Amino acid sequence: MKSNEELLNIAKEASLNAYCPYSKFPVGACTLYESENIYSGCNVENSSYGLSLCAERNAMSTAIASGEKSRLLKIAIYSPKSSLCFPCGACRQWIQEFAQGYNTEIILEDENKNIQIYYINDILPHSFKLL
Ligand code: THU
Repeated sequence: MKSNEELLNIAKEASLNAYCPYSKFPVGACTLYESENIYSGCNVENSSYGLSLCAERNAMSTAIASGEKSRLLKIAIYSPKSSLCFPCGACRQWIQEFAQGYNTEIILEDENKNIQIYYINDILPHSFKLL
C-alpha cells in the first residue's frame, strides 16, 4: 500500500501534465482504492471555460474507466500555486460517490510542505444521496 508521501508525490508529478493555459493553475490528484490500485489525473481546461475538468474528477474517471470497483480510501491533491489545495464542491460530491460509505482521506500539503489529512465527511457533511 502506497504511503501518503508517495501519493502526494504522484499527485505532484500529475500536476506537471496539467492543461491549464487559461487559469495557469495546475492541479494534480492521486487516488488510492481499497484494491491498492492508484490512478492519477490533472486538470484539463477548455476555451469554453465552464467545460474545464478538475484533476480529482479526471483521476476518479480514469479509475472507473480502468474497471475499478473498490472503495476510494484516499485522494492526494496538489497545486504548485496553492497551499492546501482543497477539492471544489463538485469534486467533494464525486469523492462521496466513490467512497461508497467510507470516510475517505483527503491528503494535502501545507505551506511548510507538511502533509495534512482531512476527511470527506468533515469537508462535505450532509452530501446529496439518492437513497
Ligand atoms: N481545479 C481542480 O483541478 N481541482 C479543484 O478542486 C479546483 C480547481 C482546477 C480547475 C481549473 O482548471 C483550475 O483549477 C482553476 O480553477
